[in-house]
Amino acid sequence: MIFRVDYSPLAAFYHLQYQHYTDDLEFYTRLARDYGGPVLELGAGTGRVARALARQGVEVWALEPAQQMRKLGARHTQGLGVKWLAGDMRQLKLKRQFPLIIAPFNALMHLYTLDEQDATLEGVQAHLEAGGRFAFDVYNPAHIGLQGVLQHEGSYGQTEVFLHQEHHPTAQALLTHYLVDTLTPTGNLKRQRHTLTQRYYTRYELERWLRAFAFEYRLFGGFHKEPLTPESAVFVFEAWHRR
Ligand SMILES: C[S@@+](CC[C@H](N)C(=O)[O-])C[C@H]1O[C@@H](n2cnc3c(N)ncnc32)[C@H](O)[C@@H]1O
Repeated sequence: MIFRVDYSPLAAFYHLQYQHYTDDLEFYTRLARDYGGPVLELGAGTGRVARALARQGVEVWALEPAQQMRKLGARHTQGLGVKWLAGDMRQLKLKRQFPLIIAPFNALMHLYTLDEQDATLEGVQAHLEAGGRFAFDVYNPAHIGLQGVLQHEGSYGQTEVFLHQEHHPTAQALLTHYLVDTLTPTGNLKRQRHTLTQRYYTRYELERWLRAFAFEYRLFGGFHKEPLTPESAVFVFEAWHRR
């Protein structure tokens, strides 16, 4: 039921849909100002955050396994000196350390097992400079919506995006089925289907995970460092290693 997602077939659609998402940019750029570069981004997608950081003069190493995502990312960050790397956050071996490692916008929701989570955090621990920060955000599962209800996600020029979700509580998995309808120049409607599988986390599961690897952390309920409340849509973590 749980299957690993290759973002390559989703790349153009992902970029179209999320390139203008900005809620988290100030949070991550401020961390980069405070802790400096190079910044290692895990699951850098098509460079949304990498671009914002690089435009502030920060050196970014953008780790991304999906070739088409990297291709669009390289285009989106052209001329900004972002270093794009093919790689997997579960097997970090970069032979250097970073003052800041980030995993924005649910990238960690693609770690589907405890072993994958642990391997990733072990890698982060090994690649983080003393005094450095590991920051990430994931959805708060308290806000998982209704299952099977078709929602209109947005309009992008000649493209309309609809989605419906499937929730598998025992696997802590959320499957989002996208229907991407594009009106072609000849007036035909072309439909593409994509499914995104995300493994969600509970709050204390994340806290226990960080503690198990001797990380201390602050947990926020939003990108302005507001406290976590029942309304918070995201868990935002800033963590550092107790050495
Ligand atoms: C939701 S996107 C986030 C992209 C980007 N961080 C942003 O904020 O727009 C998640 C990204 O994580 C990548 N990803 C999935 N599994 C990964 C893994 N094991 N290691 C590194 N990246 C991974 C996906 O290919 C995808 O580009």
